[in-house]
Amino acid sequence: MLSFLQPQADLTAKNTLALPARAEWLAPIDAIAQLAAIAHSPEWARQPRFVLGGGSNLVLSGELPGITLAIALKGRAKLAEDADAHYLAAAAGENWHDFVGWTLREGCPGLENLALIPGTVGAAPVQNIGAYGREAGEFIDHLDAFDMESGEMCRFDRANCAFGYRQSVFKREGCQNGRHVITRVVFRLPKRWQPCVAYSELAAELARRGKAEKRQTPLDVAAAVMALRRKKLPDPAILPNAGSFFQNPAVSAALAAALGSIHPTLPRYPQADGSVKLAAGWLIEQVGWKGRNLGRVGMYEQQALVLVNRGGATASDVRNLARAVREAVFARFGVHLELEPVQAGKA
Ligand code: EPU
Repeated sequence: MLSFLQPQADLTAKNTLALPARAEWLAPIDAIAQLAAIAHSPEWARQPRFVLGGGSNLVLSGELPGITLAIALKGRAKLAEDADAHYLAAAAGENWHDFVGWTLREGCPGLENLALIPGTVGAAPVQNIGAYGREAGEFIDHLDAFDMESGEMCRFDRANCAFGYRQSVFKREGCQNGRHVITRVVFRLPKRWQPCVAYSELAAELARRGKAEKRQTPLDVAAAVMALRRKKLPDPAILPNAGSFFQNPAVSAALAAALGSIHPTLPRYPQADGSVKLAAGWLIEQVGWKGRNLGRVGMYEQQALVLVNRGGATASDVRNLARAVREAVFARFGVHLELEPVQAGKA
């Protein structure tokens, strides 16, 4: 028996949708030696595993079998600089938004568009968090992970992380029984800073604040991003949610053009690979689900892409609403919506 394992631990307060769930065994991890102890134990190494960060992108149900690794590794440091960039590191259990604030205070901008995203530094690469025209993966130099199969540390450089839209090698591997547990992420923040404000809503917010182009500082951009997020995205501490509940779907250029000719206001974002990304929030609003509830869950009134727990919801309430929304969007537009959060546990 490993002394840090807690049996039958309640996870309701550890997921931002506040869904009732428990871990068969909870392992709060504040040292890499604990991961090694699990990997090297003949009894525990064979158990199913689940990696829990901030719990902000999860749909949990029932019991998570085996060991839930609650990553609480702490620490951040300015590692080095060269002619072109600063290199800053944070342990996987650091809060993402606190880390972004610290990089700005250290005079190392770059992550300001990603301010106020809930969750941990270690979860950021898993789904390659993104907002307002930036993705975390663009700034990741490399990361360290514990390999639960070999029982040793290993390193992934950016190319090996295989980042895509809300995708990485770690998400494909799965949080459930995945091999690698991210322990530390090292960011490369270029010294030559340029604001990234092409996202029209962000440009409009900066203009509204009197921050004209060429005079915008990283702190101006961060403040505008935070204001936008506070306006459109509910605070999970007040109204439990997991951020965007569906991914923005990428469709063929032909389907996007056909839909655009029928619905001229449909937001369309052409991608490098020739596909076109559509705004799932717009599709959901059009089919009448914005601000509408089904039982104890609903789609948020300010942002139709956000599923909220109105109080006492379970994973089955969430699944029922997700199904209803997906069916309505498919029936009207012929577009499939994929869930963004990770689903885990058995009812
Ligand atoms: N829209 C509507 N109705 C709605 C919501 C959106 O018509 O209820 C329209 C907007 O008017 C806009 C378009 O859809 O034309 C896009 O909306 P928005 O700018 O709010 O962004 P999003 O595509 O809905 C994505 C990310 C967010 C990120 C924002 C800002 C995904 C799945 N979501 O949302 O990320 O903060 O862009 O960059 O890519 C998250 O992943 O959890 C998340 C919050």
